[in-house]
Amino acid sequence: TINNVSIVEVPTVSDTRGKLAVIEKDCIPFNIKRVYYLYDVPSDSYRGGHAHKKLYQMLVALSGSFEVHLKDGENERKITLNKPDKGLLIVPGIWREIDNFSSGSVCLVLASEDYDESDYIRDYEAFELFKR
Ligand code: TYD
Repeated sequence: TINNVSIVEVPTVSDTRGKLAVIEKDCIPFNIKRVYYLYDVPSDSYRGGHAHKKLYQMLVALSGSFEVHLKDGENERKITLNKPDKGLLIVPGIWREIDNFSSGSVCLVLASEDYDESDYIRDYEAFELFKR
């Protein structure tokens, strides 16, 4: 459920030269199998609009900001990501939509599985049936 979605603090090493954030196994509860990122996203763009059956993901706003709207079939949550040292952990079975991308924003996604279209639920009614 949506209660299993959490914000993860990414440990950072900071000095006068700047900040370095490290995502490794103590801050992420899955093995990273795939990394992708969204960039050059028009501000009126809408991404996501699907859920996953098995996939775990962590989203990080490496630059700029965007909003993530989450639904588990019962409850909803809106989370604004705007800090490179905060990760949003999304467990399987959560409907997500992402919008309000600021100009120049970059959304990093760490994923637990290879890309597999059969793991997607792209139809909201099918998602509601899946959740019953
Ligand atoms: P999609 O997951 O729907 O993007 P978003 O959730 O950001 O809106 O993927 C968009 C397209 O990219 C879709 O045709 C599938 C393709 N794709 C890959 O080929 N490999 C990948 O790892 C991902 C995430 C998407």
